[in-house]
Amino acid sequence: HPFHTLTIDPPDHGLALMDSVHLRNAKVRGEPVAIIVLGASGDLAKKKTFPAIFSLFYHGLLPTHFVLYGFARSPMSDDQFRELILDTLSCRVIDGERCQEKMNHFLPQCFYHQGDYYDATSFGNLNDVLTHGFEMEHPKTNRLFYLAIPPKVFEASCSNISINGRAHNGWTRVVVEKPFGHDLPSYRDLRSSLASVLTEEETFRIDHFLAKELVQNLMTLRFANVIFEPLWNRHHIKSVQITFKEHFGVEGRAGYFDHVGIIRDIMQNHLLQILSLLAMEPPVTLCAEDIRDEKVKVLRAIQPLKASDFATAQYAAKDSRSKGYLEDDGVPQDSRTPTFASCVLHINNARWDGVPFLMRAGKALDERKTEIRIQFKHVPGALFPVTNGAEHNELVIRVQPDEAIYMKIVSKVPGLTSRMEEARLNLFYRHAWEESKDIPDAYERLILDVIQGEKSLFIRDDELEAAWTIFTPALEELEDRSAPMPEVYHYGTTGPTGSDVLAEKYDVHWS
Ligand code: NDP
Ligand code: BG6
Repeated sequence: HPFHTLTIDPPDHGLALMDSVHLRNAKVRGEPVAIIVLGASGDLAKKKTFPAIFSLFYHGLLPTHFVLYGFARSPMSDDQFRELILDTLSCRVIDGERCQEKMNHFLPQCFYHQGDYYDATSFGNLNDVLTHGFEMEHPKTNRLFYLAIPPKVFEASCSNISINGRAHNGWTRVVVEKPFGHDLPSYRDLRSSLASVLTEEETFRIDHFLAKELVQNLMTLRFANVIFEPLWNRHHIKSVQITFKEHFGVEGRAGYFDHVGIIRDIMQNHLLQILSLLAMEPPVTLCAEDIRDEKVKVLRAIQPLKASDFATAQYAAKDSRSKGYLEDDGVPQDSRTPTFASCVLHINNARWDGVPFLMRAGKALDERKTEIRIQFKHVPGALFPVTNGAEHNELVIRVQPDEAIYMKIVSKVPGLTSRMEEARLNLFYRHAWEESKDIPDAYERLILDVIQGEKSLFIRDDELEAAWTIFTPALEELEDRSAPMPEVYHYGTTGPTGSDVLAEKYDVHWS
């Protein structure tokens, strides 16, 4: 394949864009690590964290000597915990060569510790178990704590880790999941209380969308090709759409989700991170700090949102086979939490003045899809008549599933005709790259980066400050009891009509 004839070596800085795996792994492999997953009984741990850790083990990327502890309040024996890991293992390597054999080596390294996030003694007991167990043989063990827990228990957990969990003779690193805070004031409080117990070096604020293959490719696409950057501005781009859809509901995650809602769950972090990579100016270098400086600059140019910039909705059952949000266990009957939202953002700078950036995110919709659509302006003049709505070029970046980048163009239909139709210039990853059949999950890269101490894909403080500044005013208005209830949409449908009405105000039709 022509793409395979050319390999471009990345510069030796800018680890966000280079494959650092084999460079540092040799050293890291020799350093024992204890990985402690808090919230081990939960959705994230089962769906993402354990499969990613096993996949790293499978590929020989975990330190040779490691131990994995699940920590949560639910009662579970070590054997039950191992079964949980086995049952939930849907990772890409499950049918891989010698998978069973590797699993047989992996599971004996997995243990469960029942404990309470608020209870310092629970952490003290875990410390004793580690100190008198695995660490007797491996006294220089590093400790990686992964917080797969709802945000309201972050603070207590970090404080207990600091008091009773630190490694005795190695590094301690703590991975904190989003959403980091609930709004701007609570974010600031959380930032200062975590800063009093953990150093910045020890804290890894994760946004796993940054490690998704297509999101990692955004900067390459923009800045390593000459054709896009001259068009990447208000003179040529009519609108930008960023969509996140899931075809399943909250199912079992109400304990977390009902306090958070879709705006904090997806928009304030994952979609805003994508937006910042799409809209930022070129960084001075590919170093993490330079990239993050540009992201912060563009975030600070975004006008804070108001409730009127949003359409929000909550799903209801479609038929007897689906459950509405309010029917989910743990959801209060009068919950106003949105499970769908769309909004429009404006960037007040010279590049983007007047270009609407539309975001939408929803659960229990018709399909699972995350994609970016950059719609260009129409061709000036009247040389060609308008054709079936195909008059706009559109660049589509499909983040998941079936990773792809394609450009919609207008083309003459072949033959003795002058008819024009929309056609596509396609880059389907599966067809273009053999390796893409086996794209690592974002969490594999992130957990490996934590073990290696690489921070480029983690979020800096000032990015969060800017992100909360954008969303907090709208959240306050939308969550006021006097605000209208979210619209209702049905499970498995394309979403609420309010979102279409919002988009139409900006002459945008969701695709
Ligand atoms: P869950 O609701 O599954 O909660 C995880 C665990 O935390 C539960 O198993 C439970 O364990 C404990 N828990 C739940 N509610 C409470 C509570 N009110 N007080 C104390 N402990 C509680 O959440 P997720 O796993 O879905 O999410 C955890 C974190 O990961 C969140 O910050 C989320 O934003 C983030 N995240 C989740 C993703 C996902 O796909 N699920 C993806 C990306 C990020 P026990 O009762 O046994 O202690
Ligand atoms: C998480 C959200 O951050 O991202 C979940 O908390 C959501 O609600 C998940 O399901 C989606 O991630 P992915 O990688 O499965 O698309």
